[in-house]
Amino acid sequence: MAKPQKRYVCQACGSVSHRWTGQCGDCAEWNTLVEEAGAVVTPFQAKHNLQSGGRTVQLVGLDADIALPDRMATGIAELDRALGGGFVQGSATLIGGDPGIGKSTLLLQAAARLASGAPDGAARRVAYVSGEEAADQVRLRARRLGLGNAPVQLAAATSTRDILTTLSIGAAPDLLVIDSIQTMHSDLIEGAPGTVSQVRASAQELIRFAKERGTALVLVGHVTKDGSIAGPRVLEHMVDTVLAFEGERSHQYRILRAIKNRFGGTDEIGVFSMQSEGLSEVANPSALFLTHRDEGVTGATVFPALEGTRPVLVEIQALTVRLASGATPRRAVVGWDSGRLAMILAVLEARCGLSFSSAEVYLNVAGGYRVQDPAADLAVAAALVSALSERPVPVDAVAFGEIALSGEIRPVAHAALRLKEAGKLGFERALVPTAMAKEESALTLSGFRTLAQFVDHMLGR
Ligand code: TYD
Ligand code: MG
Repeated sequence: MAKPQKRYVCQACGSVSHRWTGQCGDCAEWNTLVEEAGAVVTPFQAKHNLQSGGRTVQLVGLDADIALPDRMATGIAELDRALGGGFVQGSATLIGGDPGIGKSTLLLQAAARLASGAPDGAARRVAYVSGEEAADQVRLRARRLGLGNAPVQLAAATSTRDILTTLSIGAAPDLLVIDSIQTMHSDLIEGAPGTVSQVRASAQELIRFAKERGTALVLVGHVTKDGSIAGPRVLEHMVDTVLAFEGERSHQYRILRAIKNRFGGTDEIGVFSMQSEGLSEVANPSALFLTHRDEGVTGATVFPALEGTRPVLVEIQALTVRLASGATPRRAVVGWDSGRLAMILAVLEARCGLSFSSAEVYLNVAGGYRVQDPAADLAVAAALVSALSERPVPVDAVAFGEIALSGEIRPVAHAALRLKEAGKLGFERALVPTAMAKEESALTLSGFRTLAQFVDHMLGR
């Protein structure tokens, strides 16, 4: 038999090469090639496998009965919403987020709720393993949160063997929180905690335990500078659900977003606010993001954004500053896509006769919120035109619509939901694509077919 050749597997895309290189030849990521043992399956072996007898698996129809997964609602409605109804037993959930964003706080609160029997009164067995803080530190935090009496089983440990040995005695916990997976160490393989192979091996052991014993496993994962969950993207493939806990540490609000969910949708968010007594739920996020609004302020528009099926009203602010000729004007964006801003500016120049070429442009979404919805185009355009012309957008109006390069204003999804939320918060008018001006709404709707028409309307031309 031929000596097995060394092979290097890209940890980002999985491509295999026989030589180590700094950059993966397939996906162009840097420093992702790792030597892996074991031979590659040859086409000959694959063919041989096809022919030799394995066991038969059962084939079923799509219409066969479905066993719905057992869920444990935590009673923290914003968390349950992001999870799709609660933690699923025998599944693994990864919660990623920047250090200090509130992951430990959230999970301690959820653990305490479940252990104390909320919301259905059935107290669950809950184990919380901290690899980052000493047990006393976690206890202090729990006391500060008013959860000191919750019957959570607490341990400070980092060895997966010790943890699983301990938990294998007696009934397995219903919920097991591992805070964080980067601090865990598996003695099955070598390497320091936090390395890709350690994180993967530790997660594998814990996940196997969770699946076998019907435990809902929650792994806390730190996030690297570029926003991915540290160590391994492989971790995201191994778990059933990935949640990202986002927010600016300088702002109070936090958003829990489902990125992957084998047991539910990925378009729901949970909104929290970080208080001195822990995270509290924000049932009405619009009120949080909407700053106090004064009549006559230029460069501000309210946009009814949609997060999954949930409308969130946010204020979009623009500022333009005229420059002396010659200098290259700055474009700075916070909370929106800078490429999209360049596009809206180009359409305003090319189709509407407005010139931003000698003006610096600043765009900001208030409250530290990040808009990802393309329906924001019209609200952004309104804020820009208002800033440039120094004419305010009516304070009781919201705007939404997608802008095409042709200058056309296109309809967007869920107009009714957006209008309803705006109505609830006291808005009386909406600037919308023509196609949506016939929607039934308590608001007065003004429809626009093109951006040029819209600009004419704003400038009173
Ligand atoms: P933490 O849950 O430790 O974050 P993570 O586990 O994601 O690293 O949260 C730490 C921050 O939250 C810390 O800066 C203090 C703040 N905090 C509050 O404002 N109120 C509280 O009740 C608690 C427990 C923390
Ligand atoms: Mg923590």
